[in-house]
Amino acid sequence: MRSYRIDEFGGPASLKIVAEETPRPGLHQVLVRVRASSINFRDGMILKGVFGPMVSRGIVPLSDGAGEVVAIGEGVTRFKVGDRVMPTFHPHWIGGKRPEGSMLGLGGDTDGTLRDQMLVNEQALIGIPSHLSFEQAATLPCAALTAWSALVTLQQLCPGDTVVTLGTGGVSIFALQLAKLFGARVISTTSSDEKAARLKTLGADETINYKANPDWDAEIKRLTAGKGADLVVEVGGAGTLGKSFHSVNPNGRIAIVGLLAGMSGGEGFDFLSWIATTYRTGVGSRQDFEQMNKAIAYHQLAPVIDKTFDFSEAPAAYEYFLAQRHFGKVVISHG
Ligand SMILES: NC(=O)c1ccc[n+]([C@@H]2O[C@H](COP(=O)([O-])OP(=O)(O)OC[C@H]3O[C@@H](n4cnc5c(N)ncnc54)[C@H](OP(=O)(O)O)[C@@H]3O)[C@@H](O)[C@H]2O)c1
Repeated sequence: MRSYRIDEFGGPASLKIVAEETPRPGLHQVLVRVRASSINFRDGMILKGVFGPMVSRGIVPLSDGAGEVVAIGEGVTRFKVGDRVMPTFHPHWIGGKRPEGSMLGLGGDTDGTLRDQMLVNEQALIGIPSHLSFEQAATLPCAALTAWSALVTLQQLCPGDTVVTLGTGGVSIFALQLAKLFGARVISTTSSDEKAARLKTLGADETINYKANPDWDAEIKRLTAGKGADLVVEVGGAGTLGKSFHSVNPNGRIAIVGLLAGMSGGEGFDFLSWIATTYRTGVGSRQDFEQMNKAIAYHQLAPVIDKTFDFSEAPAAYEYFLAQRHFGKVVISHG
């Protein structure tokens, strides 16, 4: 079987394809033929070697994937050969609070999905909603579940809430799609008018071009009659957090998710002028994933795939993703 491994930290050229022996499933293990995988922002950081010292050279990258069960080990009861499955981002987080210890997830501190076959403990797998292709399912484990946790598990989104999403990456597009399932009003920011038009087709109630209108927080206030939004899915970090605080009402919530606009520095924010509840999101547990899939299956939600590359083109897929022009998800089809 073939696996990509990160030979040296750097750019997409550091991804090396290696031939390896197909593993055999042991007690409670399932052998999955990976049919598709997808790229998240953290995968670019891991490739560049800026995700922290706990990622080792030689790791198989990518957390997200989908495939089919080709063999099961002794004692496996949750799955059978032929089942369509996705691995969970955190193999040891089944439900409840996040366990302690290293939690970098698949493709971080544990070999990931950019390979032909992978062994997974049966507890770290979940079924694919039947209306989804392998390519669509491969977008769910990190990006969709993070959006779900930010909106639903941690923030208890209600119908009629005004939700703000930032940009058009994987997490933000799922946040828009999922917030609409709950009857929320969604205001989405983006860097381009073309992407704004696509956001509207996905159900965004209002869009703001944050390049043309750097005071997007004031625009959110204007759109909410001076009150402010109820919830911001904060994927920007240091460069957007101050404006996110100014975008919410005094009972507003900010789900701290990412750092697209910088890890440190940037503008400050005035905690005293706005009271907001902040939560740090950590993808989610298997139980959260199961709950989200019920909603996705019931509403036949279709993940937004920007572009699909072949397995042999994985470095080109990274190249395309790192240019940050995508809308939604970038997927690798394993054939
Ligand atoms: N805590 C967790 O559990 C968790 C889980 C998943 C992801 N994350 C984090 O969440 C963030 C988003 O991840 P992702 O995979 O969805 O990213 P992504 O797909 O790479 O997002 C790319 C998009 O972000 C938008 N963007 C870039 N800079 C921006 C800025 N300054 N302000 C607003 N939007 C900006 C751009 O869209 P436009 O051109 O439309 O502006 C760009 O196309 C990352 O920081 C990631 O590490 C955290």
